[in-house]
Amino acid sequence: MGYHQAGFEVVGVDINPQPNYPFEFHQADAMTYPIEGFDLIHASPPCQAYSQSVRSTDSKWVPTRGKLEPKLIGGIRERIKHQPYVIENVLGAVPYMDNPVMLCGLTLGLVIPRHRFFESNFNIEEFPHEGHKGYAKKYARENNIEYRDMTVTGKGRHAGTSDRWKSFMGIDWYMTQPEIVESLPPAYSKYIGEQFYEST
Ligand SMILES: C[S@@+](CC[C@H](N)C(=O)[O-])C[C@H]1O[C@@H](n2cnc3c(N)ncnc32)[C@H](O)[C@@H]1O
Repeated sequence: MGYHQAGFEVVGVDINPQPNYPFEFHQADAMTYPIEGFDLIHASPPCQAYSQSVRSTDSKWVPTRGKLEPKLIGGIRERIKHQPYVIENVLGAVPYMDNPVMLCGLTLGLVIPRHRFFESNFNIEEFPHEGHKGYAKKYARENNIEYRDMTVTGKGRHAGTSDRWKSFMGIDWYMTQPEIVESLPPAYSKYIGEQFYEST
């Protein structure tokens, strides 16, 4: 959505069906889908392989150390690196990324930090990042929101979570909670799209 807001025509590819995807969509393997002719390729490989923890089958939070999910960053980079590209992921993936910049939601006008990391072969200007320890707790208290709802990770715990998460993320179309959790807020990709225009 952010690339659309920045003026791109967007085509999405995912190996799983994405019935709520708001643009042209192809269910396909990103490792084989034809990528010639696109101005910019954006890849958000599954972050679970790189995340600090996931919910195990007995509902406990456990560190994965990348054992449960395939790490796809290296493979997709080999495929797309000859075209303008962006690879997005979470903090745990930084050691697998090539010189990524960090974008913070607060800097982009959101109320959640949701730090995400972006590797690219064009310049993405990184904002100076000021500490915001305690911000989310304070925001939750002042707005009568449960603090744990500020993270937009894992399962929603009560009715109304989806709407709250969507408002934190800047999402105004229908998405399920698991889809919201997986998604990159449009403000990030809009900024990156604008940076792409500036650098070309
Ligand atoms: C972090 S999510 C992407 C979220 C998306 N960028 C957004 O902002 O809504 C990672 C996605 O990669 C998909 N995926 C995993 N392996 C894939 C593959 N080989 N080809 C295409 N998609 C794949 C998963 O189904 C999942 O939807």
